[in-house]
Amino acid sequence: MIDIHSHILYDIDDGSESLDMSLQMLRMSVDSGVTDIIATPHVNRQGHIPSWQTILDKAAALQEEADKANIPIRIHTGAEVELNGDTLRFMKENHDDYCLAGSRYVMLELTDQSQPDIVEKMIYELQMRGFLPLLAHVERYERLMERPETLLAWMNKGVLAQCNTGSFTGYFGSKLQQRVRDLYRNNMIHFLGSDGHRVEFRTTDIRQAHEELDRLAAKEKPHVNLWNTATRNAEYILKHRVFYPDLPSHWQKEKKGFFHRLFG
Ligand SMILES: [Fe+2]
Repeated sequence: MIDIHSHILYDIDDGSESLDMSLQMLRMSVDSGVTDIIATPHVNRQGHIPSWQTILDKAAALQEEADKANIPIRIHTGAEVELNGDTLRFMKENHDDYCLAGSRYVMLELTDQSQPDIVEKMIYELQMRGFLPLLAHVERYERLMERPETLLAWMNKGVLAQCNTGSFTGYFGSKLQQRVRDLYRNNMIHFLGSDGHRVEFRTTDIRQAHEELDRLAAKEKPHVNLWNTATRNAEYILKHRVFYPDLPSHWQKEKKGFFHRLFG
């Protein structure tokens, strides 16, 4: 398993608070079957932009400590870049700063204030500069999830989506759980991430999500298990290859049974 979204670097954002916590988080990842993890600290949140060199240094230092502690995991560099007007100032053409694992994939975070039509223009501009945009925890964006056809149109233009493992287990509530299930049924989830922040809550332990994805696969798509496909897709990022997903022709609402329509 490749966890492409995590806050395992300490003292850089609202994620891990210490080396000890980071190592505990990495142990949880390994226990969940994770072989590779991308460190994606917040960048451009409330205007705070850590330098790319800082992220590289912190990831290298943590890898060294993980190796010393015999934690078998590869840490890759990355960022969770908040998308607003300023993003276009520091995401420059012909460089891979703030991208995932040395690729041109960039993980973008929207906010409650993000307006889909403006987001679309900014994403297009980033694509023109050679970046491959990937939306972090797409299930969280109210305005976008109200019109999934828009998200699908973006995907047809090369935008990819990551969902949080905790959304599948219901950790973030039943509304988000329903949304990831809808996205899953429509084949519109390309990557998974723990979005792990700490060891007591919002952790990097994703074993329960694995069980839930096995259950969903058995129930709905016997030949497709998102746990495996998301890992295969993430390998494209690690290998710096462009990934073209199979997309649905249109968004399909969940078909509800007679009793559900009557009483649901
Ligand atoms: Fe995050």
